[in-house]
Amino acid sequence: MTLEETAMTFTELTADLETPGPDWRRTAVVYQIYPRSFADSNGDGIGDLPGITHRLPALAELGIDAIWLSPFYKSPQADAGYDVADYRDVDPVFGTLADFDAMLERAHGLGLKVIVDLVPNHSSDEHEWFQAALAAAPGSPERDRYMFRDGRGENGELPPNNWESCFRGPAWTRTTNADGTPGQWYLHLFDTKQPDWNWENPEVRAEFLDVLRFWLDRGVDGFRVDVAHSLIKAPGLPDQEPAEQAAQDAETDGFFLSGPMWDQDRVHEVYRGWRALLDTYSPDRILCAEAWVPSLDRLARYVRDDEMHQAFNFGYLESEWDAAHLRATIDKSVAANEEVGAPTTWVLSNHDVVRHVSRLGLPAGPRPNGIRAGDVQPDHELGLRRARAATLLMLSLPGSAYMYQGEELGLPDHTALDDDLRQDPTWWRSQYTEAGRDGCRVPLPWEADEPGLGFGPGGATWLPQPDSYATLARDRQDEVEGSTLEMYRTALAFRRAFALAVGTIEWIETAPGVLQFVNGELTIVANTGNQAVPMPEGELLMSSVELADPTTLPADTTVWLLTEVFNESQS
Ligand code: GLC
Ligand code: CA
Repeated sequence: MTLEETAMTFTELTADLETPGPDWRRTAVVYQIYPRSFADSNGDGIGDLPGITHRLPALAELGIDAIWLSPFYKSPQADAGYDVADYRDVDPVFGTLADFDAMLERAHGLGLKVIVDLVPNHSSDEHEWFQAALAAAPGSPERDRYMFRDGRGENGELPPNNWESCFRGPAWTRTTNADGTPGQWYLHLFDTKQPDWNWENPEVRAEFLDVLRFWLDRGVDGFRVDVAHSLIKAPGLPDQEPAEQAAQDAETDGFFLSGPMWDQDRVHEVYRGWRALLDTYSPDRILCAEAWVPSLDRLARYVRDDEMHQAFNFGYLESEWDAAHLRATIDKSVAANEEVGAPTTWVLSNHDVVRHVSRLGLPAGPRPNGIRAGDVQPDHELGLRRARAATLLMLSLPGSAYMYQGEELGLPDHTALDDDLRQDPTWWRSQYTEAGRDGCRVPLPWEADEPGLGFGPGGATWLPQPDSYATLARDRQDEVEGSTLEMYRTALAFRRAFALAVGTIEWIETAPGVLQFVNGELTIVANTGNQAVPMPEGELLMSSVELADPTTLPADTTVWLLTEVFNESQS
C-alpha cells in the first residue's frame, strides 16, 4: 500500500468523526489565510473574500479544522490592513460584509471554524476617532482616546520619550495645529499611520467589546489578537532603557523584548473582560494571543483559565533546526502551558517571518527580516527537505498547530523581489536596510498553466511570483505521490486518526542530533543532524522524504512509526 492509499483509508475511517472535534480550541490545526494573497476573484491582482469562498473546498480537503483570516477591514492598507479605519466593515478591495457572510457560511458548511484578526493596539490614522482627535484641542476627550503628549525640549520639539517604532524610526509623530503651528505628538509603536489607542480610556474599552460583539453576532468562532502584549503602557511612559532598546534592535523584527510598552501586567484585565464576553456566547469561541513576550512563562500568563485560550508559540518558530534546542523548547512550552491548564500551540511560518522553507535553507544565524537579491540566498533543496521534516515534527506534537497559506505547497519566500515593488513599511522606515515581510506574502500559485498561476482571472498579481512557484503550484502537487501537499494531507489524516493532538510526549534517549518520542501509538523520530542514523524499531507509517533504505534514517528527515507494542497487540 502506498502512503497515499494508507492515508485514504484513515480519511475514510475518520470521515464520520465530528469535524472539528468538540475540543477544537485545544487541538485544531488552524490555517492562516492572508486575504490579499490567497485568491483573487475579480482580476485586480489582489486576493479577496469571494476568492477565499471559491477556494475553500481545497482547504477542507486538506484536513484542517479552522481558518484564521488576517485583516480584511476597511483600511488605507498602510500596513496591509493592520491599520484599521473601520472595525465593522470590509474594505472594498476585499469585498463587502455580504461577501464575508457568504464566506463564513461556506466555511461552516465545510466544517471549518473561522477566526478573524482583531487589531486593538492601534487604528489607522484615517479612523474617524483619530481624525476627530486631530481636530480637537489638547486635553479634549477626543484626544484622550489615543496617546497624545506634549513634546520635550523648550518648544516641545523633541518626542515625549525615546521609544522606537517596531518598523524602525521614532515611535512618535508630531501633529500640526489648525493655524499651522507645530502641535502635540502621538504615539505609534508601528507605522506613523497606526496611532496607538489609549487603553486607559473607558470609551476605548467599551468600543472594542462592541466590536467583538459585532463579529460574534455575525457568527465568527473567535479572534486572533494582534500584538496582544502592547495595549497597556507603563505609567508615565518612561524612556526605554538603552540595553532594552539595543536588544530590541538586535531582534530581527523588533517585536520581541521587554520594555515599558510591552507585556505590562495590567493588560490581562482587558483579556479577562473579553473572555467573560466570549463565554456568554455558545458554545466554544476562541481567543488567541499574538504576544512576542520574553519567556514562555510570561506567555503562559495570557492563557490562564479566565483569559485567552491559546497564544502563538514564537519560541518554537524561533528554534533552530537542532534536536537539543527543539527538545528544550518543546519541554518548556508544554510545562509552561500545563502550569495554567492551557494547550500548547506550534507554528513555523506566518505573514511576518521568512517562510520556513527559506529560513531553514540559510546558514545558522539570527532570523532575517526578509531576504533580498543581494543577500546570501537560501539553499532551496536543503530548506525544503528540512521544512518537510520540521512540519512532520510539528504536526506530531500534542496541542494546536498553525499553518500559513502556501506552506502545504512547500513555498519559499520570494528572495529576489525587485526593491521598487516592496510595500512593507519596514523597508522605507529602516532606510532601505531591511527588506521586510513582502517575500512571504506573494500571491499563491494554484494552477501552473494559468496566467498568474491561477491566482485570479487575467493573471494580475499584486506582487510577482518567483519562477519556482510554477512547479510548486497546487495542481502540480495534487494527488502526486511524494509531493509536499500530499505529505501534509497524509500527516493531517494520521494526526487525527491517531489522536496525536490530545496525546503526550514521552522522550526516548537516542543519538545526538536526533529527537525521538512516543505519542500514543506512534513513535516520532526526527534526525536534525547531517549524518544518517539507524532506523529505530517500528512499522513505517510516513516519512518526510522517500526512503531509499528502510533501515536507515537519513539526515534532515522525520518519520512516524507505529510503535512495537502496537504491532504486537495487533498480531
Ligand atoms: C502584528 C501583525 C503584523 C503587523 C503588526 C502591527 O505583529 O502580525 O503583520 O504589522 O502586528 O499591527
Ligand atoms: Ca480582487
